[in-house]
Amino acid sequence: MATLVPLSAIDSTLVEQLLDAAFGNDRHARTAYRMRLGVEPLDALSFAALDDEDYLAGSIQLWPVALTDPKGRAHPMLMVGPVAVMPGRQGEGFGKALMMASLGAVDAGFDHGAAPLPQVMIGDPNYYARWGFVSDHTGDWHCPGPFERHRLLVRSANPAVLPTHGMLGPWHSPLAN
Ligand SMILES: CC(C)(COP(=O)(O)OP(=O)(O)OC[C@H]1O[C@@H](n2cnc3c(N)ncnc32)[C@H](O)[C@@H]1OP(=O)(O)O)[C@@H](O)C(=O)NCCC(=O)NCCS
Repeated sequence: MATLVPLSAIDSTLVEQLLDAAFGNDRHARTAYRMRLGVEPLDALSFAALDDEDYLAGSIQLWPVALTDPKGRAHPMLMVGPVAVMPGRQGEGFGKALMMASLGAVDAGFDHGAAPLPQVMIGDPNYYARWGFVSDHTGDWHCPGPFERHRLLVRSANPAVLPTHGMLGPWHSPLAN
């Protein structure tokens, strides 16, 4: 069973090793990294999953990003990911536990905002649909690099107010730690 702790409590070298193992050493070139270039993960929403022997089994990070619409208005969002579970430990429930921890904190209003910010990610729609992530509203959203359109997903309590067009990028936000 997973024990969840704030990611900031874990040695960052161990987290980097986990991410290399899950995504490969070339992961920094991914578009997802460019979307949040220069911002730090949000401490209150980022977690580590430890196994029964307190070894690091998985991690999740959330970041402040924004979708900038064609009029130049920035719409703040939370970027989910990377979600990483150590190869060899996948399929044991760590990923689900991490997602529930972060999304639970978002839904509980971690930033004391009126409504949770929309959450965006590049990920497998078959896996992330269970939490309400869909590609339905992202058809005219752009990213700073190549991506597979069906993998650009958003979760929002009120999809009707999502901008229809825009470019995703880092947001130097007042939410920062
Ligand atoms: C994707 C990942 C985070 C899932 O974590 P995990 O701990 O292996 O998954 P869990 O054990 O929590 O969840 C297992 C459930 O998800 C399902 N599942 C796992 N990967 C899936 C996928 N790609 N598509 C659909 N369902 C998937 C399993 O069938 C299982 O379903 P069930 O609950 O109905 O039995 C993990 O496998 C991983 O790190 N993969 C490599 C990195 C990656 O691709 N990260 C995601 C992009 S940010």
